[in-house]
Amino acid sequence: MRDSKPITTARLREMKAAGERIAMVTGYDYPFARLLDAADIDVILVGDSVGVVVAGYPSTIPVTVDEMIYHGRAVVRGTERALVVIDMPFMSYQVSIADAKRQAGRIMQATGCTAVKLEGGVAMAPTIRALVEIGIPVLGHIGLTPQAVNQLGGYKVQREKERLLADAKAVADAGAFGVVIECVPADIAAEITNAVNVPTIGIGAGPGCDGQVLVLHDMLGLCERFRPSFVKQYADLAPTIRKALGTYRDEVKAGTFPGPEHSFS
Ligand code: KIV
Repeated sequence: MRDSKPITTARLREMKAAGERIAMVTGYDYPFARLLDAADIDVILVGDSVGVVVAGYPSTIPVTVDEMIYHGRAVVRGTERALVVIDMPFMSYQVSIADAKRQAGRIMQATGCTAVKLEGGVAMAPTIRALVEIGIPVLGHIGLTPQAVNQLGGYKVQREKERLLADAKAVADAGAFGVVIECVPADIAAEITNAVNVPTIGIGAGPGCDGQVLVLHDMLGLCERFRPSFVKQYADLAPTIRKALGTYRDEVKAGTFPGPEHSFS
């Protein structure tokens, strides 16, 4: 029987305590938000990956707060149960804590989302603390942090165990309600999960995390760009869509669409 109560950050903590895994997927628009919610996905992340998989940018770096708000509003409108988290894009929180407060507040007010996510560990702990203190729930993100791809020298697995542990603890101690761990060896991610008292959500971080997140377009085979090895593709929608569009084109060209059933008399 479906539990239709909206997911809260407190519920996510309870799930960790009970050993109940958290299912999170990215979402960027109203129709998919409805599908994700109907599938009882616990958390919908309006990721700044929208820049890559929807807008076609080469990385997440060009994404703006206005773009996140546009997509965030659509997702919130399509969601009843899932907890909606919106990514703070590059340069919306790194320059100053005052900036971070203003931009996180703007994202929450304009969209109605429950929480924001930002990338970074020890260095971002004061920012996370400042947001949490004014009532803004924050999801942390450590390991491979795509906004820092140029600093990291590419999208690489992060293996510095001591730094990763310190980052995760700093984010949790600052009051984040959870932490995404991206592209980290499974044994290190499992150790982090045991070391922190907030849920860890892994992506390319093995099965030892408290939950998992995947990028929607990758898991559904919607965009045929490079697919990282950690992604499991649960559907292959691009060929289905191409076939449907080809059939439509052929029927228009042949004059067989619209038929009488699609016409008014
Ligand atoms: O932007 C995003 O989709 C993300 C996930 C990869 C965690 O940050």
